Amino acid sequence: MNALNERASADGLWTGLRLAPGAAPGVSLPNGALAAIAVESGVVRWIGDAGNVPVELARGPRHDCGGALVTPGLIDCHTHLVYGGQRANEFAMRLAGASYEEVAKAGGGIVSSVRATREADEETLFAQAALRLEQLLADGVCAIEIKSGYGLSLEHERKQLRVARRLGEHYGVTVRTTFLGAHALPPEYAGRSGDYIDAVCREMMPALAAEGLVDAVDVFCERIAFSLAETERVFQAARMLGLPVKLHAEQLSDMGGAALAARYGALSCDHVEHLSDAGIAAMREAGTVAVLLPGAYYTLRDTHLPPIEALRAAGVPMAVSTDHNPGTSPALSLVLMMNMACTLFRLTVPEALAGVTVHAARALGLSDTHGVLGVGRPADFVLWNAQDVSELAYWFGRRAVKRVVRQGRIAQECAA
Ligand code: NIG
Ligand code: FE
Repeated sequence: MNALNERASADGLWTGLRLAPGAAPGVSLPNGALAAIAVESGVVRWIGDAGNVPVELARGPRHDCGGALVTPGLIDCHTHLVYGGQRANEFAMRLAGASYEEVAKAGGGIVSSVRATREADEETLFAQAALRLEQLLADGVCAIEIKSGYGLSLEHERKQLRVARRLGEHYGVTVRTTFLGAHALPPEYAGRSGDYIDAVCREMMPALAAEGLVDAVDVFCERIAFSLAETERVFQAARMLGLPVKLHAEQLSDMGGAALAARYGALSCDHVEHLSDAGIAAMREAGTVAVLLPGAYYTLRDTHLPPIEALRAAGVPMAVSTDHNPGTSPALSLVLMMNMACTLFRLTVPEALAGVTVHAARALGLSDTHGVLGVGRPADFVLWNAQDVSELAYWFGRRAVKRVVRQGRIAQECAA
């Protein structure tokens, strides 16, 4: 896949577009009319009726899209994309009946990816993650969150986050980095989780933040990971540094993490299968996004559904993401996650699309620039081989992307 500097500029007038519902708030078109988008210096300059383009915008290069469906660039708002090795062996263990918690207790799980990540140098991690990122980009992803959390020491967390930043620069994709030092207890701290949280808060987080490597801070708050009190210590440290927080909350049990995260103004609470009514109320108050991760639910053969109806009724925005990671969600298609969110979680198609665009942007603190098409925003949009949006969620295993414009450049062209 071509790097940023090898891509053609998307400047000019894009015509013959069928705007997906909700894609461009505030833009109203006559019934059935096709839209046009004018791009200048990589930024959307104008959107409106293709039959009514201001003359001064009609002069430059033209890209006729022949009636193609257009959505904002997709946003994968929860991934653990950078890690060494893979864990197909655990897949086999789980097929033989072991649970995620049993695999973790047997020395597998997150800690085995920590070993492989520590052993890999930065170039190796970059090369391995790049292959995975290319898959996600080919599916229309224009912005992505990448967490650390497989290094669990200053040196190795730094290595992961540096790779995340470099991926963003190389591919011209918006990358938000999240420091997830409190993902698991590294073996050298066995029995001393308080000491490890000290290191996370006092040593790792400030150093990495000072290096500009941290856009947000996350914790895995769970019986097999960190307690509510430890989570709060990490949130306090993040607050001191002015960093927004998010949380792996209530995935396997109700720890009360969502309510805590909401108190700290969390951008998002993610997984949330066991989210309580009190958690939902706190998230609504705080404007915290619920990030649904159907890939992990599916891989773990979970049966405890997130409280979709209650989230919907409360008006908590729901995002959808791959949770790409080597243990519980080796997913490389965000479009497939739309299908799973509908099929497994009963989201509607518009909810699934909002989940990978506007609400995903909010989960990353990117609402001002990403998630919808609008004047003054970066030109990030996807043209699809699809009659309408429901086709995106309907097929699975089909690459429906026709063309991607990412960061104002033409990132990809596929056979129509
Ligand atoms: O989001 N829940 C914790 N973290 C990951 C799993 C990581 C792993 O198993 O390596 C998740 O599902
Ligand atoms: Fe995760």
